[in-house]
Amino acid sequence: IALLVAAGGIWFATNAVRKAPPAAGTVDFRAPLAVPPLAPSRVEDGVRIFALTAQEGRTSFVAQGDTPTLGYDGTYLGPTLVAERGEQVRVDVTNDLADPTTVHWHGMHLPAAMDGGPYSPIAAGATWHPAWTIDQPAATLWYHHHLHGRTREQVDAGLAGMFLVQDDEESALTLPRDYGVDDLPVIVQDRSFNSDGSFAGGLGMQFDGVLGDTILVNGTVAPYLDVTTERVRLRLLNGSSARMYDFAFADGRQFSLVGTDGGLLEAPVTATDIPLSPGERAEIVVSVKPGERVVLQSHAPDPALNAGSASFDVMELRAAASLADSPEVPSRLASLPTADASSAAAERGFVMSGHDINDREMDLDRVDVIATVDTSEVWTVRNNNPLPHSFHVHDTQFRILSVDGAPPPARLAGFKDTIALEHDREYRLLVRFDDYADPTTPYMYHCHLLWHEDQGMMGQFLVVEPGQQPDLKRPEGDTD
Ligand code: C2O
Ligand code: CU
Ligand code: CU
Repeated sequence: IALLVAAGGIWFATNAVRKAPPAAGTVDFRAPLAVPPLAPSRVEDGVRIFALTAQEGRTSFVAQGDTPTLGYDGTYLGPTLVAERGEQVRVDVTNDLADPTTVHWHGMHLPAAMDGGPYSPIAAGATWHPAWTIDQPAATLWYHHHLHGRTREQVDAGLAGMFLVQDDEESALTLPRDYGVDDLPVIVQDRSFNSDGSFAGGLGMQFDGVLGDTILVNGTVAPYLDVTTERVRLRLLNGSSARMYDFAFADGRQFSLVGTDGGLLEAPVTATDIPLSPGERAEIVVSVKPGERVVLQSHAPDPALNAGSASFDVMELRAAASLADSPEVPSRLASLPTADASSAAAERGFVMSGHDINDREMDLDRVDVIATVDTSEVWTVRNNNPLPHSFHVHDTQFRILSVDGAPPPARLAGFKDTIALEHDREYRLLVRFDDYADPTTPYMYHCHLLWHEDQGMMGQFLVVEPGQQPDLKRPEGDTD
């Protein structure tokens, strides 16, 4: 192991943007946390219609100069989309960039042709009109660029945003849900800046991707959040391309973990930290006292592999002198189906190693897995490297059956679409493929360290009717 890490270290030293944020306790929180606006929508013939435009811009993060960035309907990141379970939605995505782009709805259950992965490029100047029915529990999902081989480049430049699903069960609970007041998106990214203010590490040249020395939350450097209620719900998203976080408060206070990638847990989990690998989400509810200040920090889970101090600052919560009442977090949140592997239609294994999955690099012309619609499968995933990898599956929310044969910790017992893989552990996942058969268009599974994904650590799966033959159709350039 030491040898491999050392070899990696030499590579990092020669090519990498591999920096560490300053040690915890040193950031001067000076900017109010930006809250992404809610995306406007209109309803026509029963369809809720959003519009997003991918565009170029310049954003002011640092004193050295403005940073060339990309955003949706703005210069950096995008608005928050909100839709109800059962609603039909359509998003008109216009590409105002000079290059092709795509928008992938991470965590969303939807037909493969609407998934927005590498099979749905939007040519410069074109508009794409994905439409589907929201059919999954309330959850914190997100959307981001996903062009084959160029995901890191455009996501790091700013093409990402949140997509919140609501439903009746979640709405009936006494959880904070006043957007921008006591219910906040917290999109955490790390960046480094060149002397002219541009992002360092334009095109990936390093083993893990960019590890930056500056933490951005919703695009804000050194942010503070003015808290006006006794409890606040933070929808944490690791929107970084490579960095692993382990979020915790500076004073070690407890919080309630209420939801993970695919929605609410059955019951809140009391925790003092929550690890998130790139792409993962966690909803936490934390209490504050009038007038106090407390810093959300991250421990670096493995400082050696993660270019980190032992811990670093993320943002400060500043409680007002008098706080509005918040109800207690309910003791029951949701009822989840039992994760039962007994009727699984197939078992498959995935070994993540180097930039390959099962010794193969991504090939758009190869189908790696053919699943039958309305069945479950058991997928066993293993990370062969002493370096971080994760595993993300499009379209579906899976359950973790076991980690090294033992039941998963409570924080991993809910619906997940992305999981961090520790070295040499065996993760058994129960993966469902509901509703949408399409022999022509695949979904993706991949490592969500974006540089690994771009290097080919990705595979494709088709969902077909029983007995249906695959008939892969390569993407066409223009979708309008
Ligand atoms: Cu968040 Cu295939 O992606
Ligand atoms: Cu995804
Ligand atoms: Cu990886």
